[in-house]
Amino acid sequence: MKKVRIGVIGTGAIAKYRHLPEYAAREDVEIVAVCDIIEAKAQKMAARYGVKKVYTDYKKMIAEEKLDAVSICIPNYLHAEVTIAALEKDLHVLVEKPMATSLAESQKMINTAKKRGKVLMVGQNQRLAPLHVLAKKIIDSGMLGKVYTFRTVFGHAGPEHWSPTGSWFFDKEKAFAGSLADLGVHKIDLIQWLLTDIEEVACFSATLEKKNCTVDDNSVVIVRMKNGIIGTVETSWTYKPKEDNGTTFFCEKGILKMAVEPDAPLVAYFNEPGKGRLAFEVPKMQSNEEGGQFSSGVIDGFINTIKGEIENPIPGSEGEKALRAVLACIESAKSNRKVLVKEVEA
Ligand SMILES: NC(=O)c1ccc[n+]([C@@H]2O[C@H](COP(=O)([O-])OP(=O)(O)OC[C@H]3O[C@@H](n4cnc5c(N)ncnc54)[C@H](O)[C@@H]3O)[C@@H](O)[C@H]2O)c1
Repeated sequence: MKKVRIGVIGTGAIAKYRHLPEYAAREDVEIVAVCDIIEAKAQKMAARYGVKKVYTDYKKMIAEEKLDAVSICIPNYLHAEVTIAALEKDLHVLVEKPMATSLAESQKMINTAKKRGKVLMVGQNQRLAPLHVLAKKIIDSGMLGKVYTFRTVFGHAGPEHWSPTGSWFFDKEKAFAGSLADLGVHKIDLIQWLLTDIEEVACFSATLEKKNCTVDDNSVVIVRMKNGIIGTVETSWTYKPKEDNGTTFFCEKGILKMAVEPDAPLVAYFNEPGKGRLAFEVPKMQSNEEGGQFSSGVIDGFINTIKGEIENPIPGSEGEKALRAVLACIESAKSNRKVLVKEVEA
């Protein structure tokens, strides 16, 4: 069996906790090289996964190594530049979320992937979580009737608890937005995938706790979807001591709770007398908290797409759709008004 030859660019937290272990778990993948501007970090990960080549310059790595694909696990402002450089070397690219910092960047990334005929996938992993996959089947089955409103939340104590090199998350120049770009992009992708596209947003953002921080550490968004459903998206870097990563749909025939109840990852409550509560057998939501890890499904999705076994589960166009809605939220908070997602331009 010919192995898929991978290079990982950036060996910080997301590479360490997800990309590298998930690649290493596959027999059809060889991690050929890793790259980080901090050589010691790359060396440490190379030693852990038996990777032979270590680079501090990604351009050198993609020029010298015979790779099939790269994972891009570096700060947000570098995603577009590195993605385009890799695609132009005819490599498939898995880029972390948010895929870019502007629509001009995301459009160029998508166009380059198309021109080169390469896979461009975005690490918006919430839609791959088994409980969300099952929730989609339940919603689409009509078991709960129409969805009227929803509440979706992603909050934890902040990137400083996740990554020792994560100070860039607080810098607008490098991150472009705070909890909205880091966590909001996940939940926005999830609700658009579960329901339909967002049409309009009204967003409040604030920096309430983090010091030396030029981005939001909390945001609350009211959204209206294309089919009229309304709901809220809350994002936070100040939820302590426990994270909240839950979504609730209030529907015509009952309520669906995803990652809301501690011991039941997915629960439906029915209005109909005698039907009551139904807890579904499904693994818990993946979590950044101690003991909460399991495969995100992103690496499997990427490799299986490269091998032509499945359709790209999170193509660049889906990354861009989530990015566009996040940009609408930023504009809404800045201008203190409701913003139509279609108003956002490159
Ligand atoms: N999918 C998810 O759930 C998820 C979770 C966390 C982070 N992320 C995303 O992953 C990306 C990285 O986040 P992180 O938490 O790993 O940050 P991090 O700071 O822990 O790691 C980033 C690494 O990139 C390295 N780096 C910076 N510039 C580089 C360059 N030019 N070339 C090579 N390496 C370079 C840094 O030295 C650092 O080791 C971000 O876009 C973030 O939004 C995704």
